[in-house]
Amino acid sequence: MFLLTKQWLGAWFSLSGLRWVWDGDTTGTKPALGTGNKGLEKATGGFVPHFVIDYAPYVHLYSEEIFLPGDIGEHLEHTIPYLNYTPLTSLHTRQSLTSLSHLNRFGPHVYLTSDDDPETQPSWLRGDHNRPVPIGHGETDVGASTAPGIIIWTEKENNVTDAFYFYFYSFNLGNTVAGWRFGNHVGDWEHTAVRFIDGVPQSIFYSEHSGGVAYEYGAVEKIGIRPVCYSAVGSHANYARPGTHYYAIPFHLLADHTDKGPLWDVTKNSYMYNYDVDHDILKPSRDTPGAPVDWFHFGGRWGDMMYRPGDRRQWVIAGQYHYVHGPTGPKFKNLARKEICQNEGVCVVRSSLTEEAEIPFVTLEGWDGEDVDEWAGLPDEKEKRN
Ligand SMILES: *[C@@H]1O[C@H](CO)[C@@H](O)[C@H](O)[C@H]1NC(C)=O
Repeated sequence: MFLLTKQWLGAWFSLSGLRWVWDGDTTGTKPALGTGNKGLEKATGGFVPHFVIDYAPYVHLYSEEIFLPGDIGEHLEHTIPYLNYTPLTSLHTRQSLTSLSHLNRFGPHVYLTSDDDPETQPSWLRGDHNRPVPIGHGETDVGASTAPGIIIWTEKENNVTDAFYFYFYSFNLGNTVAGWRFGNHVGDWEHTAVRFIDGVPQSIFYSEHSGGVAYEYGAVEKIGIRPVCYSAVGSHANYARPGTHYYAIPFHLLADHTDKGPLWDVTKNSYMYNYDVDHDILKPSRDTPGAPVDWFHFGGRWGDMMYRPGDRRQWVIAGQYHYVHGPTGPKFKNLARKEICQNEGVCVVRSSLTEEAEIPFVTLEGWDGEDVDEWAGLPDEKEKRN
């Protein structure tokens, strides 16, 4: 049941409007829809700095998680690029990780669309076979998934290195309010970022929905010296602690749940890259010289466009949709960030896990309503609002 006053619904709707803008992407410099600086790419970058591996986060998936890590290559075997709900290629033509950015010529609204109705939850969408190796099944493989993690390090001014650990899942199952589920999407990119100065970890950022939370490195839970991150059931939002986490602040209607389920160690299987943000050059690390590069520059979405009104899978209540757009990839997660948070300007680095940081309250004041069309991406904005 909805314990909502009319005012709350109205406020939530307004807030959701803004959230909608944020869902697709974030503040910060938006990379151009290029295809990378191929001419300047040498075969490989250097080896990954040892500290990027030594301090790589462990991820606790949820114990009852059914949407497990996904393999980006396998994802392409079950999706077709669409523009305006229309396939761009025949159903027999598959895209590849080494040739995906050619789709950028169709603009940013290309959606890698699932062959299967996600409601049928096919095995590839669930990532069934990517369940990490559990403890007790061979010491060296514990935590390994057949789905590669993506580790990208970038060197910045003043001997700062930012390491980004990206986690891909083929499906995001949204949470429920009063029996209504919101926020499903095909394709799901989450990440943790660790900032190093002179090779020493300083701070860590956990991505959660359209934002996330940062902590001083010393504040977070560790296994050995490695930080621990908890992936919420269904949404895969990252948290520093197990338990229940309310979001859609300040209304506290939707909650994520995390616990000490299967441990995923992305260092056991990953594509590793060095990224030169200034020149837009991604190079495979010499540790994984065969890691594909081109997919990184794809500027479209890694899942279906939100289903249209009238589609039996779609509903909207107070501005919240059952199905939303698939997300953009790692390149569009503000890798050039100066602050450790993905959304800069509102970044609070907490000094303890229990610190209640000042949550910036988002209002629509000062927001001019621009970008809605761009981010909503729907042919008819009015139709969507009905
Ligand atoms: C930069 O960091 C590296 C460790 O990554 C360290 O060996 C080196 O001394 C640092 N350079 C400066 C100028 O502090």
